Amino acid sequence: MEHPQAGDDLLRPRPAGRGGPHGAPSRGASPQVGGGPRASGGTLTATSAARPLVVLEHVDKHFGDLHVLKDVDLTIHAGEVVVLLGPSGAGKSTLCHTVNGLTPIDSGSITIDGRPLPTTDRGLADLRADLGMVFQSFNLFADMTVLENVMYGPVKVRRRPRAEAEEQARHRLARVGMLDHADAMPAQLSGGQQQRVAIARALAMDPKIMLFDEPTSALDPEMISEVLDAMTDLAESGMTMLVVTHEMGFARRAADRIVFMVDGAIVEDTDPETFFTNPRSERAKEFLGKILPR
Ligand SMILES: Nc1ncnc2c1ncn2[C@@H]1O[C@H](COP(=O)(O)OP(=O)(O)OP(=O)(O)O)[C@@H](O)[C@H]1O
Ligand SMILES: [Mg+2]
Repeated sequence: MEHPQAGDDLLRPRPAGRGGPHGAPSRGASPQVGGGPRASGGTLTATSAARPLVVLEHVDKHFGDLHVLKDVDLTIHAGEVVVLLGPSGAGKSTLCHTVNGLTPIDSGSITIDGRPLPTTDRGLADLRADLGMVFQSFNLFADMTVLENVMYGPVKVRRRPRAEAEEQARHRLARVGMLDHADAMPAQLSGGQQQRVAIARALAMDPKIMLFDEPTSALDPEMISEVLDAMTDLAESGMTMLVVTHEMGFARRAADRIVFMVDGAIVEDTDPETFFTNPRSERAKEFLGKILPR
């Protein structure tokens, strides 16, 4: 079984600075990572940062008459943090769901780490084990403790010995600041705490990529930052992430790239600084005008 480096990095002690552990790309210091596939003529191919992990090509999706994804091309490289922005109904959740095989596409292709999206139930289950997902609603197992929630996937799906799974689960919980709550039941936790456990649980599977779909939008305002902090730490550790969020501070701080969608199409795909200070499209200007504080 293959384990990504980013997952291993999470087990190491955190460095004092905010740059990520050795070997992991540090945010802002690797502009080439966001420059598109082989942006610098192949010089990146020697580094894991250049490995295309998720590749969507000409992806189309309809729901009945509604054309929800229109010829979407998107490549996410290992170690990249891509934040997906766009107005409600743009197709952001649909795009996330196509990547993890929850929503089948009409045409085009999706590959995850070089392999086409599987079509069998078994193949899809394997795929989802490699993709950590944290969505808006808290989806912890209500009848299990926090620790049992985090151990469940490694023991049941990865077939790890319990003792090893427990040790790793405790590391993951410590990482999101939830180790003190290992024996609590989900209902005893705040929404922010539950989302941090959900992140730990996803990480426990050593995912190749983490997908977040508005993980803070159901939270009370005072709990948002604790979840965003855990996500920022994860980003800095070198985890590959696709994040749908309305938290513009996080987007600007943590993203390598901003992908902006409107009506099912990608309108801009650029670095955060350019997107927030000098967006090309009228749609992005309009979107930012509405969402950013004046
Ligand atoms: N299962 C479905 N059946 C029919 N239409 C759907 C389905 N899922 C999504 N849609 C429609 O597809 C469009 C895109 O939806 P999607 O949820 O991907 O948007 P979104 O960008 O995530 O929006 P939001 O910011 O509100 O979450 C919307 O018009 C939505 O109503
Ligand atoms: Mg959505």
